[in-house]
Amino acid sequence: MKVENIVRTIHEYEIAPLGIRFVDRDSEVCKMLQLLESTEVKAWIYMITGPWGCGKSELLRALTYAMNRVSEDCQIVYFDLTEKEISRFYATTDVNIMLEVEKVLEGLMGERAKIPWHVYRIIKTLYERRKMKGEKIILIFDEVTYSLKNLREIEALITSLSNHLASLVKDLNCIAKALVVTSEQSASEVFTKISGKYLTSCLMWNLNKESFFELMNRLECPLDQELLWSIIGGNPRLLVELKERNWDLKEILKGLIAKVRKTIRRTATGRGEALSAILMDLKKGIDKVEDLDLTLAWNVLLEDNIVMHTGAMFLNLSEMPKERWTSNWCSFQIPAYYWILRTMIELKTDKVEVEDVMKRIRC
Ligand SMILES: Nc1ncnc2c1ncn2[C@@H]1O[C@H](COP(=O)(O)OP(=O)(O)OP(=O)(O)O)[C@@H](O)[C@H]1O
Ligand SMILES: [Mg+2]
Repeated sequence: MKVENIVRTIHEYEIAPLGIRFVDRDSEVCKMLQLLESTEVKAWIYMITGPWGCGKSELLRALTYAMNRVSEDCQIVYFDLTEKEISRFYATTDVNIMLEVEKVLEGLMGERAKIPWHVYRIIKTLYERRKMKGEKIILIFDEVTYSLKNLREIEALITSLSNHLASLVKDLNCIAKALVVTSEQSASEVFTKISGKYLTSCLMWNLNKESFFELMNRLECPLDQELLWSIIGGNPRLLVELKERNWDLKEILKGLIAKVRKTIRRTATGRGEALSAILMDLKKGIDKVEDLDLTLAWNVLLEDNIVMHTGAMFLNLSEMPKERWTSNWCSFQIPAYYWILRTMIELKTDKVEVEDVMKRIRC
């Protein structure tokens, strides 16, 4: 499998709703291919997490598209486990395989725990009927934890997936690997607990500055590039949302302030503490972002996808930007959250205005 060919083909992938071609992610793709190519272990699971809307699903759809076109020794299938509609469930998967898989999987969406068993059966049947071939099988499960919450359910699903990958290796004499994606940080924390046995936890970040500016250009964004970087920090989902809202940055910021406010209030009521005490305690995490997980608000900030563990906990697919809202241990998912919380702490209230936050970003 030629890495350069796959990287080139990925850039031919068109994101239909945006009417543009896929931007960058070359280094992530190279690292992922390196992992998938290694033959030291024949069955393995890679969990991929990252900030909300950083582009995990689009990257995996693009990878499926490119590998199905370029790779001869590898069969790759993408399952979007949030999609109820069967036609969108497989995204860029090869159409011949899709039709076969579709027959069996219909009506199965609710039974998450049985998915590994069904996938095993389908793949085995397809190999026997020679509809599928290749020495390597890559199965991608997007939003694998959707509707699963607790440690036991997630662990059971992953153990079952791992056992079924091992059976595929044994029965078909092949290499079988799975990429499972989760955006929910509380679920991702569960994965890191079970990492090592048959699973590696990987982190993907927002776009780097150069690629973010490239995406801004392709979307014909009229806003100041550096300013936008210091607010949404390379997050493609927020850039797309901004475009949909006619580049009204103020509206987006208003929404983000409301989100942070709700989270802080939830922390205060949950812990029975005064809001001022929660904000005062958070100051240590703003002054030293790597200590964010020592603050009282951490768990709720994590649940609401405002912060996450980074760096040392993961195999890093992306290079983390070195900014004041990121660190090697904990980071804000986007800089706006850092600035909003900083403003709330400085003004000693959660009732802050867009102008208050912008003033701090600009100076
Ligand atoms: N490399 C890219 N080039 C162009 N557009 C991109 C790229 N990555 C993501 N996007 C766009 O950004 C938006 C968010 O991407 P996507 O849905 O893949 O994020 P995600 O990380 O899967 O989000 P979630 O956390 O909700 O699962 C989508 O509209 C997608 O098309
Ligand atoms: Mg996604």
